[in-house]
Amino acid sequence: MKQRKQKSTFKLKKKKNHRMRINMLFIVAFSFLVSVRSLPMKPTLNYDSIFNFGDSLSDTGNFLISGDVDSPNIGRPPYGQTFFNRSTGRCSDGRLIIDFIAEASGLPYIPPYLQSVRTNNSVDFKRGANFAVAGATANEFSFFKERGLSVTLLTNKTLDIQLGWFKKLKPSLCKTKPECEQYFRKSLFLVGEIGGNDYNYPLLAFRSFKHAMDLVPFVINKIMNVTSALIEEGAVTLMVPGNLPIGCSAVLLERFNDNSGWLYDSRNQCYKPLNNLAKLHNDKLKKGLAALREKYPHAKIMYADYYSSAMQFFNSPSKYGFTGSVLKACCGGGDGRYNAKPSVRCGEKGSTTCENPSTYANWDGIHLTEAAYRHIATGLISGRFTMPSYNNN
Ligand SMILES: *[C@@H]1O[C@H](CO)[C@@H](O)[C@H](O)[C@H]1NC(C)=O
Ligand SMILES: *[C@@H]1O[C@H](CO)[C@@H](O)[C@H](O)[C@H]1NC(C)=O
Repeated sequence: MKQRKQKSTFKLKKKKNHRMRINMLFIVAFSFLVSVRSLPMKPTLNYDSIFNFGDSLSDTGNFLISGDVDSPNIGRPPYGQTFFNRSTGRCSDGRLIIDFIAEASGLPYIPPYLQSVRTNNSVDFKRGANFAVAGATANEFSFFKERGLSVTLLTNKTLDIQLGWFKKLKPSLCKTKPECEQYFRKSLFLVGEIGGNDYNYPLLAFRSFKHAMDLVPFVINKIMNVTSALIEEGAVTLMVPGNLPIGCSAVLLERFNDNSGWLYDSRNQCYKPLNNLAKLHNDKLKKGLAALREKYPHAKIMYADYYSSAMQFFNSPSKYGFTGSVLKACCGGGDGRYNAKPSVRCGEKGSTTCENPSTYANWDGIHLTEAAYRHIATGLISGRFTMPSYNNN
């Protein structure tokens, strides 16, 4: 994207004697820059297949197919309006981070695993499968119940269930150990983001911060356990994303709507206690991954820094094209400071959508817009926000 931009300004400079030509070129260049936002990413990554585990940040259709919730709002317009022109089950107006990573690898969009159930096993997963399910937690339902949390989870398709699906699919991908080694050598395993919902459920059910903070070690343990299991199944290149700055999330800002100004970060108006929870999770995750690198020296284990990448646009919205809003949801019922009251949600009767979602970071209160996901994906693909950054394998 950057290269193309430079090229068009170069063209402009060369022809600066011809006023008319300049004006024409400017118009051409300008419309080109606008359309660049929706162009697919140039393939720069070298993966032959991608296997993804997680929640709504990366679900490309499993939750919708599962039917766990009857006719959910994410299955209706305006979901998908920016890119797919229909609701695909992605919780956004368009593509997700995983879609941009697939594009950058020259791969088709990764099909949701449950599509095989619906279509009688006719889906080809050789170039990857997506096991992520919107609403999924790292921990089981019983884990929350033991802690007195009586909310109903949107789905029971936890990280362990998703791992089970992968194990079930594996024999159709490769048979013998050497064959699998060969095959997985060029596979990327994305483990997450997952765990965000383990905090969202209790926080939205008015549990204390202490309660949420106390869950962190259990969430990290689960992620470590499944990441290890995947390595033992043959994964060699893994990317494990941390949590987003949830203190900048419209639905949580609405829930914690607080008059204590000192609890808000003066740089971005995000809610500091929530961001501290995300930071705690991320610090523990990074430590856990460092331990896994020691245990499995042959594996390339990357941490994906969603937090810092997203913080760029929360701190300097207009610098990154977010001239609408970064804290207020683009789509919602119109109520409250953040357009994220649970009474009317995006896709439900009475909700409205902002005119230009590409100038908003938050799509529906909980999830981000395609523009925001593109920003984060670009940071990961360049290697700037992955640690270590052995991206271009
Ligand atoms: C999840 O599991 C619990 C306990 O088995 C059950 O009560 C609940 O209905 C399940 N939820 C969904 C969405 O399947
Ligand atoms: C993950 O946890 C399960 C249950 O505690 C355990 O049986 C299994 O050995 C663990 N797997 C790895 C790879 O650590």
